[in-house]
Amino acid sequence: MTVDTIDFPQILTEIRQEIQPFFGQGKQADYIPALANVPGDKFGMAVRTAAGQEFVVGDAEEDFSIQSISKLFTLMQVLGLGDEDIWSRVGREPSGTAFNSLVQLEYEQGIPRNPFINAGAIVVTDILAGRSADASRRIVDYYRMLSGNEENRPDEEVAISEKECGYRNAALANLMCSFGNINTPIPDLLDVYFRQCALTTSCLDLARAAMPLVCGGYSPIADEQVMRGRDAKRINALLLTCGLYDAVGSFAYTVGLPAKSGVGGGIIAVLPKEFSVAVWSPELDRYGNSLVGGKALELFTTKTDLSIF
Ligand code: DON
Repeated sequence: MTVDTIDFPQILTEIRQEIQPFFGQGKQADYIPALANVPGDKFGMAVRTAAGQEFVVGDAEEDFSIQSISKLFTLMQVLGLGDEDIWSRVGREPSGTAFNSLVQLEYEQGIPRNPFINAGAIVVTDILAGRSADASRRIVDYYRMLSGNEENRPDEEVAISEKECGYRNAALANLMCSFGNINTPIPDLLDVYFRQCALTTSCLDLARAAMPLVCGGYSPIADEQVMRGRDAKRINALLLTCGLYDAVGSFAYTVGLPAKSGVGGGIIAVLPKEFSVAVWSPELDRYGNSLVGGKALELFTTKTDLSIF
């Protein structure tokens, strides 16, 4: 099948029906108290093709908490600035451990395995904080430019809620600092990181914001080349190998697309040169990835017969 011949509205409608039995099997993130009360029965999906067509179903235009999906956009921002030093401070290997695990960091001398686990994302944010005293605003502005939605902003209640319970992230930042891999004062750095994770967005915003990964570094929303084509290719490789933490192998097996998840229940996936697809459903599996969202993407690549494999 090619993208032009696919009946996306029909496929999205079928998926919405077929995922119904999976509700109630996962659980909203509760280690960030403000996320625990988001209704579990939400479901939205948005597709944007390289040609600019958009298709939505369900709650695709409703805002939710971007959480770890923000790590993708801060990495895009750093690489778009032409910063290559990042790779002396962060690895490019799957971790095989949970997104907020501390164990590897100790015996790997404070160098996180990849930019998508929390430790790696905190280093990426540290790079942005080192370049600007106003990193938090720059991160929001960059995301707004890619999504085209000026309404995307940090939900302060979520940011404060995460800060109040952010023991693990504080531990990760302190441990990395002890190895000399953090430069920003830790309370300031964590504030920027928690605010980027607290950004509100929708599936449609995400599908638009991810287009540089579909279009060789070009954002059709901003009408701007935001990074080199080769960086887009490299980020897609990192998404495929590291984007879903210790569930990345199963996700590649069942879905077959480079993707990034967040504990707000969102997942953004791309098929380079063809389309982006975003899904949101708040109940998570035991790896911290949207359970219904993962099923929906599996159905999507099965029904369209399109994946990178
Ligand atoms: O730092 C955290 O723990 C959260 N703000 C983000 C974690 C997350 O979204 C993991 N993804 N599935």
